[in-house]
Amino acid sequence: MNDRDRFFRYVCQTSAMPLGLEVARAEGCWIETTDGRRYLDFLAGIGVAGVGHANPAVVAAIREQAGQYLHAMVYGEYVLAPQARLAERLGTLAPDPLSVVYFTNSGTEANEGALKLAKKVTGRHHLVAFHGSYHGDSHGSLAVTGREVYRRPFEPLLPGVTFLPFDDPAALDAIDEKVAGVIVEPIQGEGGVRVPGPQFLPALRRRCDAAGALLIFDEVQTGMGRTGTLFAGEQWGVVPDVLVLAKAVGGGMPLGAFIGSPKLMRALSQDPPLSHVTTFGGHPVCCAAGLAALEVLLAEGLIARAAATGERLRAGLREMGKRLGGVTDVRGRGLLVGLELVDGAMTERFAARCLDRGLIVGWTLHTNRVIRLAPPLILSDAELEQGLSMMAEALAEAKAQDSSRDEPGTRADRAL
Ligand SMILES: Cc1ncc(COP(=O)(O)O)c(C=O)c1O
Repeated sequence: MNDRDRFFRYVCQTSAMPLGLEVARAEGCWIETTDGRRYLDFLAGIGVAGVGHANPAVVAAIREQAGQYLHAMVYGEYVLAPQARLAERLGTLAPDPLSVVYFTNSGTEANEGALKLAKKVTGRHHLVAFHGSYHGDSHGSLAVTGREVYRRPFEPLLPGVTFLPFDDPAALDAIDEKVAGVIVEPIQGEGGVRVPGPQFLPALRRRCDAAGALLIFDEVQTGMGRTGTLFAGEQWGVVPDVLVLAKAVGGGMPLGAFIGSPKLMRALSQDPPLSHVTTFGGHPVCCAAGLAALEVLLAEGLIARAAATGERLRAGLREMGKRLGGVTDVRGRGLLVGLELVDGAMTERFAARCLDRGLIVGWTLHTNRVIRLAPPLILSDAELEQGLSMMAEALAEAKAQDSSRDEPGTRADRAL
């Protein structure tokens, strides 16, 4: 049995049609498969490989830490230098007064912690979230994920969750004194790379302050420079009560975090003590990798680079749309870009034709018309141009294909 057969027989499948690329190695912005093909990766593991695949500084930090110790004790008992140093770095970079970090293994766990914190400090249990959001697949995060089709099979989930329309300041009056916390992605990722207007996040901050509800920014996808600032919320000048990170924060290793003020975070050590614990959260090897990735991000100016490269990517895509047609919108911030096409079938064909040419692009979970682009922030000018020309060829071919050659329905359609 070869590895492909093992994958399909023994690895639990989550869709009927996995991409199934057989990865041999991944480096920088490139993935090489076992058949010797090279793919330019415009998805980066859905925003994980911000500093590129197998960044040498990250790999060196992993090797060094692995030579010292792997796991020593459950979270919060021993002083582990990589954890303490990464916490200091994140705690200092996060906007005031956010400075205390709780490490987890993933984004969904970090959101669980943030939601629990909101309930504990307010003594309330109602939560507010937004249509089109995605916060993860554990029960609590799923309960605040704004797409019913994914929640329904697992109900009952958390009680008392209200969903409001995203980017609608008028709807925020529904946040009242019963609400413990409001969770929002500053830019919705899985909702189709939706960037809110200038009013929404500041209005949300004001409403949460008035109601005494905690404002939680889920920056799992938008954080760590992806959108052209270290955290996306900065672009609206809004500071949340809790900032949630994952994906790129581990430099390619499993790591998540939620960050709050010292006063807020103290709640997890009292009434009762050990209110929120984890065995592996903040694993020293992952924190060493995360610290190395953060230093690369800052030292190499990758945040400003993401902003500039993202502008050029969007401009190139707009020009492509004007020239070839089939594009209904191009949006995003930094290197989180949504390319909206006319319909689901076109989107499916476009992605498939990109892959034929050796370019990896992504879907978004809640819409079948938006291609998500989230390349490593180290993307070079030449790689950007290469990606753009592959997308133009793919779009021309996708448009030329008549409907008799349509793949039957799109991935997202099949989830509906
Ligand atoms: C905004 C957001 N929150 C939470 C998550 C869940 O993170 P994880 O898959 O690490 O649990 C994701 C993952 O895509 C995400 O995009």
